Amino acid sequence: YNFSALRVYSQGTSPPFTTVTGTLALSVFTAVLGSLQFGYNIGVINAPQKIIERDYNATWLHRYDAPIPQSTLTSLWSLSVAIFSVGGMLSSFTVGFLSEWLGRRKAMLVNNLLAFIGGGMMGMSKISRSFEMMILGRFIIGAYCGLASGLVPMYVGEISPTSLRGALGTLHQLAIVTGILVAQILGLDSLLGSQELWPVLLGVTVLPTVLQMALLPFCPESPRYLYIIRCQEHHAKSLRRLTGRQEVGDTLAEMKEEKRRMDMERKVSIAELFRSPLYRQPIIIAILLQLSQQLSGINAIFYYSTSIFQKAGVQSPVYATIGAGFVNCAFTVLSLFLVERTGRRTLHMLGLAGMCVSAVVMTVALSLLENVPWMSYISMVAIFGFVAFFEVGPGPIPWFFVAELFSQGPRPAAMAVAGCSNWTANFIVGMAFQYIAELCGPYVFLIFAALLLFFLLFTFFKVPETRGKTFDQISAGFQRSVARTDMDLDPDLGKASTELEYLGEANLS
Ligand SMILES: *[C@@H]1O[C@H](CO)[C@@H](O)[C@H](O)[C@H]1NC(C)=O
Repeated sequence: YNFSALRVYSQGTSPPFTTVTGTLALSVFTAVLGSLQFGYNIGVINAPQKIIERDYNATWLHRYDAPIPQSTLTSLWSLSVAIFSVGGMLSSFTVGFLSEWLGRRKAMLVNNLLAFIGGGMMGMSKISRSFEMMILGRFIIGAYCGLASGLVPMYVGEISPTSLRGALGTLHQLAIVTGILVAQILGLDSLLGSQELWPVLLGVTVLPTVLQMALLPFCPESPRYLYIIRCQEHHAKSLRRLTGRQEVGDTLAEMKEEKRRMDMERKVSIAELFRSPLYRQPIIIAILLQLSQQLSGINAIFYYSTSIFQKAGVQSPVYATIGAGFVNCAFTVLSLFLVERTGRRTLHMLGLAGMCVSAVVMTVALSLLENVPWMSYISMVAIFGFVAFFEVGPGPIPWFFVAELFSQGPRPAAMAVAGCSNWTANFIVGMAFQYIAELCGPYVFLIFAALLLFFLLFTFFKVPETRGKTFDQISAGFQRSVARTDMDLDPDLGKASTELEYLGEANLS
């Protein structure tokens, strides 16, 4: 065993350099252009709902000589909104494969093709009088976003020095909420949200794509990919460019240590993840945290807030939506500062509780609206509160929490399962919300309130705190609880798994 490597490694955890070089800044900026588009395409569908629906109707009238039935229109619109998540769901499965085959940088480059095709189709759908093109375009741009949402955090995490990894990593989330805000502002009637210009609004998503394609050739490939996955030697050159130093021995040693750990650990398949009692508890936690993010109802707000504000009798619903976008950005920044101080579990519970209360207040306000006009202000404040509490916890935390729950071996499989459950829940909410809203009227958010309460209780009883713990400590915590449960059921099995756990710990140390 090479002790000198360990010594350099432990020095490497508090590296002497924390400077952001030009190359690093450029690379991170270029990568998060993908996250920006992800946010843009979440937010863009919100404001122009009514005008695009009018064009769907016009197309229908042109084709069939009859106005579109309301139920068909609702289905077509819900499909246009929600098919985005189907694209994301399917493509998020290929992130692991693509990023290993092409490398992180080339995978991002190739992914831009999808943005071109998707953005182009949405932009041309009005001239072509085809809502099918719009729906297909949303599907393809969704596939782009599914890949980007996996590739960007991976690349940024790998090129950042350890001491800056958290801060640079949250730029992904910040770029997403910025994209949502940009989409909301461009969606104003006076800008691109008009009957003539909405195709431009949807097509404009290719602009960051062009910029990203122009800049990516100047960004170095991730040195961790080159060395750990590809075992190529020119990783040192890319590392020198990123750090701006000639002497990169400490980081190289750190990467060697990471590779050694990875070689020691077996890759775990998705099926094993569910079969092995060692992983069962963390994977259930990972899935439920993702569900708590999506089933909180946040995308009901992001997709449909303009029509919700309209129903609430707010004077200028589009500006209220933009207000929600600003609140969203502000609280993402706040959470960035809180997450290493307050702990993930506390923040997540605080967020869920706040959202739950906001949802109840919103319901009460919306149902009293007929008799008490000033309730529209209360409902607006409640929606702002809902968004703010989302970004405190359930927004940013589930993403990196999954990576923290698993060690190197099962991590890729766990991330795929988590990504898939997230996009599936996203699809369900996008598709079902309008129907349920028509059915339940103002009481629709009570459903989300009940779900939020459930997730709050789950987090309280089942989710451990991971702040300041090493990966080994986190997984050892799960192993111990497995041993305890098994002993309750069957004393012999309990003894066996305690021995296993002992062996496991001996292996780690
Ligand atoms: C579709 O357009 C026609 C004619 O302009 C109109 O009468 C009808 O109400 C519209 N249908 C819907 C569902 O908006």
